[in-house]
Amino acid sequence: MLKMKFTIITLFEEALRPYLETSMMWKAAEKGIVEFDFVNLRDFGIGPHKSVDDTPYGGGDGMLLRCEPVYAAIESVIDKAGAEVRKSEVILPTPDGEIWSQALARQFAGVDAPDTSAEAIEKSIAKKVPESSVDDSRTIDDVKHYIILCPHYEGYDTRILDIVDYQISLGKYVLTGGELPALIMIDSIVRLLPGVLGGNSSALQESFSEGDNIEYPQYTKPADFRGKKVPEVLLSGDHGKVAKWRKAHEKLVK
Ligand code: ADE
Repeated sequence: MLKMKFTIITLFEEALRPYLETSMMWKAAEKGIVEFDFVNLRDFGIGPHKSVDDTPYGGGDGMLLRCEPVYAAIESVIDKAGAEVRKSEVILPTPDGEIWSQALARQFAGVDAPDTSAEAIEKSIAKKVPESSVDDSRTIDDVKHYIILCPHYEGYDTRILDIVDYQISLGKYVLTGGELPALIMIDSIVRLLPGVLGGNSSALQESFSEGDNIEYPQYTKPADFRGKKVPEVLLSGDHGKVAKWRKAHEKLVK
């Protein structure tokens, strides 16, 4: 069932498609959990050259994204949003925005933080978490629709902010456009949606890996690689001891 829709307004759809049509993003779309669609800002450009930018009033270097194409593109997307969408929200990637985090990804995904107590870890190791109880902790109502506006060039007319709901920064550095931030936001949100990672039958995946706010050292075969040995407790089969070891070695990723 469709849970989330992203409309990306960009001049460079070809930069976004390869990532969104690969691996987990592609699978999430194939499963019908998420839908991606693209709007070319140029289609809303001004004059014979379909111009989307102009020089700043007051002088200075560079070109700024104009209001008219941006407002026209966003209004057209909102007008065309399907009946399943209750509300569309506009995200602007910008170095001035709120710094992106796992907590924000969860908020945008509409899911709760996972239970990271030792008891919950033990249950998940033993795969004792019934699917229904996992799903109960999640809260996604209607289809959420996010419109991501990817600015390019040197900046944008500040009046664009009046049509934006969220200004998000990926970090304290400047990129050439909003496409990479858009992909990072989408990836970190979509992987949290129920059914995207690991399949519903995997209690371990459902309870912990999706939230990824805890991490501890992990090992796979062989048990001894060039003298680097897997800790005995992880080979013991004792779920309680394994859970305690993981809890003691966890690092919080905020
Ligand atoms: N656009 C340019 N730089 C950016 C950044 N650091 N985060 C989000 N959007 C941006």
